[in-house]
Amino acid sequence: MRTYDLIQKKKEGLALTKEEIAFFVRGVTDGSIPDYQISALLMAICLRGMNGEETATLTYEMMHSGDVVDLSVLGEGTVDKHSTGGVGDKTTLIVAPLAAACGATVAKMSGRGLGFTGGTVDKMESVPGMRVSLSSDEFFRIAKNRRICVVGQSGSLAPADKKLYALRDVTATIDSISLIASSILSKKLASGAKNIVLDVKYGSGAFMKTPEEAKRLAEEMVRIGTALGRRICAFITDMDEPLGYAVGNASEVKEAVEVLSGRGEARLTELCLALASRMVALSLSLPAEEAEARVAEALSSGAGLRAMEGWFTAQGGDFSAVLQKDFAKASCEEELLSPQSGILSSVDALGVGRASCLLGAGREKKEDIIDPLAGVYLKKRRGDSVKKGEPIALLSCSDPARLPAAKELLLSSFQIGAEPVPLRPTVYAIVE
Ligand code: URA
Repeated sequence: MRTYDLIQKKKEGLALTKEEIAFFVRGVTDGSIPDYQISALLMAICLRGMNGEETATLTYEMMHSGDVVDLSVLGEGTVDKHSTGGVGDKTTLIVAPLAAACGATVAKMSGRGLGFTGGTVDKMESVPGMRVSLSSDEFFRIAKNRRICVVGQSGSLAPADKKLYALRDVTATIDSISLIASSILSKKLASGAKNIVLDVKYGSGAFMKTPEEAKRLAEEMVRIGTALGRRICAFITDMDEPLGYAVGNASEVKEAVEVLSGRGEARLTELCLALASRMVALSLSLPAEEAEARVAEALSSGAGLRAMEGWFTAQGGDFSAVLQKDFAKASCEEELLSPQSGILSSVDALGVGRASCLLGAGREKKEDIIDPLAGVYLKKRRGDSVKKGEPIALLSCSDPARLPAAKELLLSSFQIGAEPVPLRPTVYAIVE
C-alpha cells in the first residue's frame, strides 16, 4: 500500500477502505509516513469529507493507536463527560460530584486549556496540593473509594491523534466534522468509560459557530460511539456568552463551590443539573425523571458539595483553602465600568476568553505557564440593565502590565443597546 495512492483516491472523492485507514493510522503512529503526506491526506479529507463508515474506522484505529484503559473493575456505572471547549466552562467540577453523589463513577482524564478555552486540569491545579498526575493504582483506589478521580491526559492515549492534531493545527485542517469527531472520540473511547455525555458548544467561544454545525458534529459522534458499543448522548449548548460569571482557573473553582452550595448562577446551574442527570440516567440505567430527582436532591442536600470535598481531598487538594474568602483573590484587580446606560445585548465569549488569556489565565503555546489567579469576573450578563459608570466586570492578575490591553479587549466584548434582548435557551438540543 502507498500513501500516495490514498491521497489520490481521497482527492477524487472516493471512500477509503478499512485496510487503507488502518495503514494510514499505523504509519502516522510509527512515524513511517512523512508529515507532508499526512498533511496532504488531511487536506483531501477536509475538502472531500468521509462517510460514516470511514469516520468510525478512523476513530477505532486512532483509539487503538496507544493504550486503551480498562475501567471494568469499577463496574458498569462509569461515566465520562466531555465538553468541546468554551469560556468559563467549569461544568466538570460540578457535574462529577453531583453524579458521584448519586452513585455513578466518574473516573476520567481531562485536558488543559489552550488559547482562549479553559481546561479542567488547570482549574484543579489552582487548588493548593491538588495532584492531577497519579499512578494507576492510586487512580483506581480513589475512583473506587470516592467515585470520582480526574487526572491529566496520558501521553500514551491515542498517540495518532496527538500527531494528527498538531499537523491539523498548522495546516488549516481543524474544521472537518470527521476529523474533529474522530479526534475527540478516539480519546474518550480509549479512556474506557462505558457511558459518555458530550457537551457540544456552539457560538463565538466555540469551534462550531452555529447550532446546526454543532448538531451535525454531535450526531456524528453519537452515531460512532453507539456503533463502538458505548451508551452516549450529546447536548448542544450555547457558548456565545461565557458560562457563569467566572473566567479564570481559581475563580472558576470558587464558582463551582457556589453552584454546589445552591448559590450558582441560573444558566450554569441549569446546564449542570441537566448534564449530571443524563450522566446518572445513562450510567445507572434510570428513567430520566428519577435521575433528575436524584441529582436535584444531591444538590439541595449538600451531598454534591461533600462529594467534591472528598474528591479534592483524596487527590491531595486543600478544600478548606477553597472555602476561604480570599481564595482566588489576585494582587492586582481593576473594575471595568460601563461606558453608557442601557441593556447588555451581548457579552462575547471569544472576547472575554481572549482578555482572560491576556491577563495570564490561558496559554498561547503548550509550554506557557499560567497564572491561576488571573481572569475576568463578570458582574453583568446578557439581558441585564446597566448604568453608566457601574462596574460590569472585574479583571484580576498578578502583573499590572497586563491590564491595559486586556481591559481594552474586554470593553469591546460588551455591547450595550436600548432594547431588551430575548434570552437564548442554554440547551439548544439533545442528540441521543
Ligand atoms: N478537540 C479535540 O480533541 N479534537 C479536535 O479536533 C477538536 C477539539
